[in-house]
Amino acid sequence: MELSVEKIINQKFENIFNQLGFNVKFAVVKTSDRPDLSDFQCNGALALTRELKKNPREIATQIVAELEKDCDIEKISIDGPGFINLTLKSDFITSIINKMSEDKRFGVPTEKESKTVVLDFGGPNVAKTMHVGHLRSGVIGESVQRIERFMGNNVISDVHLGDWGTPMGMIIAEIIDQGVDAFSLDVHGITEIYKTATTKCKEDEAAKEKARIVTAKLQDGDAEYRKIWEYIRKVSVDDVRKNYEALDVNFNLWWGESDAHEASSEIVKLAEKKGLSEIDDEANIIRLEESNKPKPPVILVKRDGGFGYQMTDIATILLRTRDLKANKIVYFTDQRQEFHFEQVFEASEKLGIAENVEMKHIGFGTVNGSDGKPFKTRDGGVMSLGSLIELSKEKVRESMPKASEEYSQAYIDNLVNEVAIAAIKFQDLKNNIASGYVFEVDDFAKFEGKTGPYIQYAIARINSILRKANEGELSFGKVIITNAEERELTLKLLQLYATIHRAYDEFEPSILSDYTYNLAQSFSSFYNASQIMGEENKEIASSRLTLAKLTRDVMVLLLDLLGIKSPEIMLKA
Ligand code: ARG
Repeated sequence: MELSVEKIINQKFENIFNQLGFNVKFAVVKTSDRPDLSDFQCNGALALTRELKKNPREIATQIVAELEKDCDIEKISIDGPGFINLTLKSDFITSIINKMSEDKRFGVPTEKESKTVVLDFGGPNVAKTMHVGHLRSGVIGESVQRIERFMGNNVISDVHLGDWGTPMGMIIAEIIDQGVDAFSLDVHGITEIYKTATTKCKEDEAAKEKARIVTAKLQDGDAEYRKIWEYIRKVSVDDVRKNYEALDVNFNLWWGESDAHEASSEIVKLAEKKGLSEIDDEANIIRLEESNKPKPPVILVKRDGGFGYQMTDIATILLRTRDLKANKIVYFTDQRQEFHFEQVFEASEKLGIAENVEMKHIGFGTVNGSDGKPFKTRDGGVMSLGSLIELSKEKVRESMPKASEEYSQAYIDNLVNEVAIAAIKFQDLKNNIASGYVFEVDDFAKFEGKTGPYIQYAIARINSILRKANEGELSFGKVIITNAEERELTLKLLQLYATIHRAYDEFEPSILSDYTYNLAQSFSSFYNASQIMGEENKEIASSRLTLAKLTRDVMVLLLDLLGIKSPEIMLKA
């Protein structure tokens, strides 16, 4: 069932435009900027002035004369130079709301044609501790994968581990240099060695050269290096999995750059066959078009014979289009990688490995502390994901009661966890992707304000209303509008279709988080103004109960699309 109020109203305008011989391109309606004056507005009359060479008010008058015959519309006015403002009849609003409440997808159907969408997010590197810099890609990617699935696409999410570049050679060389038993190292030991190796390679050209050679040999299949690499990779991946599990970030595939090794050799052959590659300074490269800015070539094979970051990404595209049959590939990384993807996409197009495949890079800004620099721990160290989760739990625990006879320790712990993760995720997802944000240490885990816990709390409050209604044997009835707050809440609910579509089209979960917050606020005003159990008129009480349930169900769906759980009960100390 498709319930889009915008589409219905647009259709009304289109019919009238057609009838009057106006260009239907301008028959576009949007939610009113002035909800106090109208529900929807159309600026088509202004847009038509040029084409029709008429005064916009005159055009608007013609449109309005037709609209006045429409029985779904309560009031129409022409304002300013020719804006058409309209207010809907309550019956029309509730007819849609009642259908919405009967549909388990609330009138938002899946796409007619399901696509295979590969989402590349997470992207942690082997041997590096996961820190706050890894948060956004995981959290945004998880939400987008849920939105894509909700819309009916076949989503394949891939973590794309950084497990094949020079850092691998650096660690192996350092392990051998130090003479430590590689197979006794835990994740901390491995990261320590990686740190030492990085410093060494920065200062010492010979060490760097050695790391390069070890990397090339590893990629070439050296048995000893491979064994060490496999061990380090496994220990790191176990740790990465733990972090993502804690954050409820999930992947279908745990492929890494290394899985593109064979495909990389295929790319070399393909590029040669197509006459695209050339040898330059001993490296095998593809030159790119330089239209308005200099574009360095893509390096397929480095001087030492190894494959680098660009190559593994190109070869991975081949795997995704040929083997996974992707129609769309979307990458989520830090904005700084924008140019890398531009190069990779262009090379893939030249190679013909991504025909009819839409490729997109979504670049996000960084998570900063109040000083505008990347968010750190209290003592100034890098904030690991583990410490961030602990910090959030600590904050949430402050607002929660202690375990009691009624609520066990395990129950409280689970609740603290669900709320703490909600706090972290919502804080991230309430900011639009492109802009970075300042981590609001004091406020992000509060139960009031624009936070995850606030929304969870709003949902739990409705749950409690529904439980009481059930005990009081109040049943659900058809929604009717009897006051301004009910009207505002129903209008807000009608925006669900457009909101989800916008978030989906723009890969922008913040559109959902904004809407969820506004919906929670509309509900709160509604509930302050309207009795449910205390309402004597049973028809009105039952209508309000339906409205409460619909709001709750929609909010639960929205949180789920953001990757956030909705606990049945919330406790406050
Ligand atoms: N491992 C990379 C990094 O830390 C991110 C990987 C992003 N995905 C990709 N296909 N390149 O920068």
